[in-house]
Amino acid sequence: MDADAKTMSTEAPRQRPRTRRPGVEPGRPVLSVRTVRASDMPAVVALDATVTGLHKAAYWQRVFRRYGNHGQGQRHFLVATLDEQVCGFVIGEVRDWEFGAPPCGWLFAIDVMPSARQLGVGARLLAELVQRFRREGVSTLRTMTASGNSLIQSFFRSQGMRAGHLLPLEMDIGHVVPTPNADTQEDQVT
Ligand SMILES: CC(C)(COP(=O)(O)OP(=O)(O)OC[C@H]1O[C@@H](n2cnc3c(N)ncnc32)[C@H](O)[C@@H]1OP(=O)(O)O)[C@@H](O)C(=O)NCCC(=O)NCCS
Repeated sequence: MDADAKTMSTEAPRQRPRTRRPGVEPGRPVLSVRTVRASDMPAVVALDATVTGLHKAAYWQRVFRRYGNHGQGQRHFLVATLDEQVCGFVIGEVRDWEFGAPPCGWLFAIDVMPSARQLGVGARLLAELVQRFRREGVSTLRTMTASGNSLIQSFFRSQGMRAGHLLPLEMDIGHVVPTPNADTQEDQVT
């Protein structure tokens, strides 16, 4: 077990009492959160595939290279395990002066396996990420959600997150179709 692994005997701070937590009593699954290992990646890919329907092994290897390795550069990729089986993950990073704002912690992804949901796993992952961000001296957590994803919004709201002062803006900038002979033809923008 990693030095940073903790079990459910140390409860994360919560806003209201819960009744459905996995505990440390005999026969109850033990929840731990620790830094991701290379050997966790097949389980992470499979977990993501159950949520998105896409098996993106190469993508997840890139994410592991960037966010794994014990949070180098204030990056964090944590996994939750129930009885040592990966059942969730969270990924985040401290970013400096983005959008003119002082350094803050960004949460990029959080996923819990459907069979392990509503047991407190997501809350515990978020609490562990927040703890790491606090240790790095930041006092604000930010994330973005799809506007139609009411599940993730309910979850973040339950953990104390509220609409912030940044507003995402976007526009369609077209898609460049590479031409076979790039020296003689211009790229086509659709
Ligand atoms: C959102 C998600 C991470 C929550 O994980 P979880 O382990 O089930 O969450 P928890 O058990 O810690 O629940 C914490 C709180 O979230 C809220 N919540 C969780 N599931 C909920 C649901 N299905 N409906 C409404 N609120 C819910 C509740 O307020 C809950 O507190 P309570 O149990 O005291 O009522 C999980 O459902 C998930 O992975 N969803 C899909 C992932 C996703 O869409 N990711 C977006 C890309 S980042």
